Amino acid sequence: MIAPSLLSADFARLADEVARVADADWLHVDVMDAHFVPNLTLGLPVVEAIEAVSPVPLDCHLMIEAPERWAPGYAEIGARNVTVHAEACTGDPRDVARDIRAAGALAGLAVKPGTPLEDYEDVLRDFDTLLVMTVEPGFGGQAFIAEVLPKVRRARELVDAGHLTVLVEVDGGVNADTIEQAAAAGADVFVAGSAVYGADDPARAIAALRARATAAAAG
Ligand code: DX5
Ligand code: ZN
Repeated sequence: MIAPSLLSADFARLADEVARVADADWLHVDVMDAHFVPNLTLGLPVVEAIEAVSPVPLDCHLMIEAPERWAPGYAEIGARNVTVHAEACTGDPRDVARDIRAAGALAGLAVKPGTPLEDYEDVLRDFDTLLVMTVEPGFGGQAFIAEVLPKVRRARELVDAGHLTVLVEVDGGVNADTIEQAAAAGADVFVAGSAVYGADDPARAIAALRARATAAAAG
């Protein structure tokens, strides 16, 4: 699955930018609060407006403090998947997963590049998606951190062995040069911001990324 990140779109023309990626699988929306990460993007009212015009289901990536306070609201406005950061949860992340699911969305857990997966392997049994960050969260256009790929491989093993049922998602620095490594490591969902919105033809960029990922996963 290819999930273009709206972070690299033109924020003055959001409806048009959403329409340009209509053949994507999910539309990735980065919510940042200037506390959990040193950047501020958009919040619930804007995401709700995007949801209303998007032909593609929303994948909301919350890079915010107190995610337990805000995450269910994104599920209520119709997001398909709502992901919170493991590092931002003050209580048990399973409580947040329960609330997101009760509000009608898939529940996702994100880990920063330096956060070990082992600490969350049990908790992830209550989640539907695992987002492995392949850059430090906060900004688009950064270089892919390949050292994170062992976490993707480990998650793939846990899913294939039946211990977890999560979709494994990678986010950050994914482009035509790096997507094959991530696919070979076992990722299911590929977030790409600058590689899609920086292209002359986003629809063609999505198709090319999907073809490379499919070939690498098969090979
Ligand atoms: C970074 C965001 C990413 C970002 C990816 O904190 O979570 O979703 O948009 O952008 P690229 O694909 O340009 O690295
Ligand atoms: Zn993201």
